Amino acid sequence: MKTIILAGGSGTRLWPLSREFFPKQFIKLFDKSLFQLTLQRALIFSSPEDIYVVTNEKQRFIALDQIAELGLKIPTENVIAEPLPKNTLPAICYTVLTIVKQRDKGGKVAVLPSDHLVEANDNYIEAFRRAERLAEKHLVTFGIKPARPHTGYGYIKPGNRLENGFKVERFVEKPDEERAKKYITEGFLWNSGMFLFDTDVFIEECRKHAPQIIEAFEEKGIEAYTDVPEVSIDYGLMEKTDRAAVVELNTFWSDVGSFDALYEIMKKNGSGNAVKGECITIDSSNNLIYSERLVAAVGVRDSIIVDTKDALLVCSRGDAQKVKEVVKVLKDRK
Ligand code: GDD
Ligand code: MG
Repeated sequence: MKTIILAGGSGTRLWPLSREFFPKQFIKLFDKSLFQLTLQRALIFSSPEDIYVVTNEKQRFIALDQIAELGLKIPTENVIAEPLPKNTLPAICYTVLTIVKQRDKGGKVAVLPSDHLVEANDNYIEAFRRAERLAEKHLVTFGIKPARPHTGYGYIKPGNRLENGFKVERFVEKPDEERAKKYITEGFLWNSGMFLFDTDVFIEECRKHAPQIIEAFEEKGIEAYTDVPEVSIDYGLMEKTDRAAVVELNTFWSDVGSFDALYEIMKKNGSGNAVKGECITIDSSNNLIYSERLVAAVGVRDSIIVDTKDALLVCSRGDAQKVKEVVKVLKDRK
C-alpha cells in the first residue's frame, strides 16, 4: 500500500510555537514532531519508497530534514512541493496522479493528515486491514466516537452494514454547533481526517464530482495549480460521493487543536505540571510550561506558559481556544 502524508497546512492555534511557515505538524511537541510520528505510522503499511509527502516549497526542506532525522530512505522526488496551497483535494489529486504516472499503475492508497496524534495500537491496525478490503469499491473513512459537539470536524452517519464496516449514509463537514449536537444524538461519528481508497475508485469519483480539478491536473500537470479551485477533500468529494464507507476507529486520537489539548496529552509530574524544557517550579501545580530557556514559576497554578525566542504566551488553562484571537491581532497589525 502507498501512503500520502498531507503536510502543507498552516495552522496557528499553537502560537507562538506554530507560525505561518512553521506549522503544528513540524513542532517537536514530544521528542518527535507530529509529522515524524505520522511517518512512523505510515511505515506500518508502506515501505519508505511507497510514502509520499505533499507540502509547499517553504516547508519541503523542514519535511526533508525531519525525514532524514529518522534515517528514512524516502525518495526526495516523493516529497512534493505544491506551488500554491489549494487545500486537500488538489493536494491528494495531484499526488495520486503522480503515483499512477510513476508506477504505471495505482493501487491502494492511505491518506494521513500530519497534524494529529494517533495511537497505532492493534485496533488501529485492524481498522486499516478492514479499510483495505473495503477500498476495492469504496472511499473509506475512519470514524471516531465523538466526545462533544466540536464544530471543526467532519461528521459521518454510518448506514447499512458492509462486510468490513458501514456504508456512509451522510458526510457533513464542519456543521454549526446546533447541528453538531443533533448529530451526536443521532449516532454520527467524527471524521478522523484519514482516508483509504483505490486510485481507480478515487479518480472515478473525482471525475464525477470534481472534474475541473482532476482534468486540469491530467492536462497540465503541476502547472494546473493556478487554475484549480481551493477545496478540501471533505467538501469537494466526501460530502458528494455515494461510494463512501466508514470503519470505526477505536484508539487514542487527538488533533492537538490547542494548548489545553496538549496539556491533556503530555506526561505530568507529581504536581500535575507538564513540562518541556528546563524549569524550576515552587508551589506551582497543574501548569503547562514549554520553553526554550529556563523558566521559574512560583505560586502559579492552572496556567499555560509558552516561551520562544521572540514571543511569550501566558494563558489560563481552559482559555487556550482564545489564542487564535492573538494571532488575529498580529495579522491585522501587518
Ligand atoms: N499539501 C497540503 N496542501 N496539505 C494541506 C493543505 C494544502 O493546501 N491544507 C491542509 N493540508 C494538510 C494539513 O497540514 C493537515 O495535515 C491536513 O492536510 C488536514 O488539513 P486541515 O486544514 O488540518 O483540516 P481540518 O483539521 O480543518 O479538517 C480535516 O480534519 C478533521 C480532523 O482533524 C477534515 O478532514 C475533517 O473532516 C476532520 O474531522
Ligand atoms: Mg486539522
